[in-house]
Amino acid sequence: MPDFQLAQRLASLPPYLFAAIDKAKEEVRAKGLDIISLGIGDPDLPTPDFIIDALCAAARKPENHQYPSYVGLLSFRQAVADWYLRRFGVALDPNNEVVSLIGSKEGIAHFPLAFVNPGDLVLIATPNYPVYGVTTEFVGGVPMYLPLTDENDFLPDLDAIDNDTWKRAKAIYVNYPNNPTAAMAPRSFYEKLIAKALEFEVIVVHDAAYTEMYFNEANKPLSILEIPGGREVAIEFHSLSKTYNMTGWRIGMAVGNASLVKGLGKVKENMDSGIFQAVQEAGIVALNQGDPYTAELRGIYRERRDVVIEALKKAGISCRVPEATFYVWSKVPQGISSSDFVTKVLKQTGVVTTPGNGFGVPGEGYFRISLTVNTDRLKEAVLRISQL
Ligand code: MLT
Repeated sequence: MPDFQLAQRLASLPPYLFAAIDKAKEEVRAKGLDIISLGIGDPDLPTPDFIIDALCAAARKPENHQYPSYVGLLSFRQAVADWYLRRFGVALDPNNEVVSLIGSKEGIAHFPLAFVNPGDLVLIATPNYPVYGVTTEFVGGVPMYLPLTDENDFLPDLDAIDNDTWKRAKAIYVNYPNNPTAAMAPRSFYEKLIAKALEFEVIVVHDAAYTEMYFNEANKPLSILEIPGGREVAIEFHSLSKTYNMTGWRIGMAVGNASLVKGLGKVKENMDSGIFQAVQEAGIVALNQGDPYTAELRGIYRERRDVVIEALKKAGISCRVPEATFYVWSKVPQGISSSDFVTKVLKQTGVVTTPGNGFGVPGEGYFRISLTVNTDRLKEAVLRISQL
């Protein structure tokens, strides 16, 4: 059998972070250890019944059995626009400023195909969701990583980027509330970012998948589109995955500057055939009726967060108290690397976490805990880690 050579773009690519963690987890499980999964950010709670019921009804409609529309049902895009108006006060045109996605990962992955040429410079705030950099490189773009650190409150230092770099940059990727650091961005950050983007004509790619996972009603995460100028320079990626526990359903949206949305839509017409319409109909119900459910979820994650913070404190492990997301960005003990620590924790205790450096160089020295099991299991997980 021939041993076919991978294309160069894949040959030197390390395994996808969460695929590698899954593999390591299964190896440890096979040895009989009780696994507690705090790795990938995949909600453990099921999708609520009112959304499942909507899917079941929609799945029975013959008109939903054919190819869906490429950009998504107008009714789905309208539900997205209605939700943006209700949540952020942003009035989107569902015809030009919204495209449906097979999960935000799909849209983020395809975006560089629409706008990044070989050799184009792409600024990426890091530690970051690995998809930004990998898919930039797939199209020949050149990532330049902007470090997020405790000292800069996990916000890229936009003033430290010289004008020549801004001039050469095609796009800048930011993500708030941030995965993996759980940091939030203040309005002043978006204002400065938009001013730079307008001045140098740089596309802002904002991954906003975690805006609904916040813990302080008085300080809700922002959409970049609600800041003046945001709609001119930005495309914002969003997802129903975390907001309504729908990771497996693969449904999300990109919204913002009409030419950016259109460009992404053009790639998608050539790459996929849209989202099963029954899933879109269920998505409409989620967006229209899901606010009380999401509020309930926030209460659950707040309780989990508090349990973990308390347990980590007792164990002498330092971390930031997250104001948003369902991640806790914690420091690994002195004298051990992120990867070694996470591997040791997994092999000796069965607790799966994510090494900070898996999200980029500045993540070294950290590990990420996902709040994806109940409070008893979270306490048990931190106890096991503390007894190492
Ligand atoms: C994560 O764990 O960082 C994310 O959940 C991965 C994803 O959303 O694809």
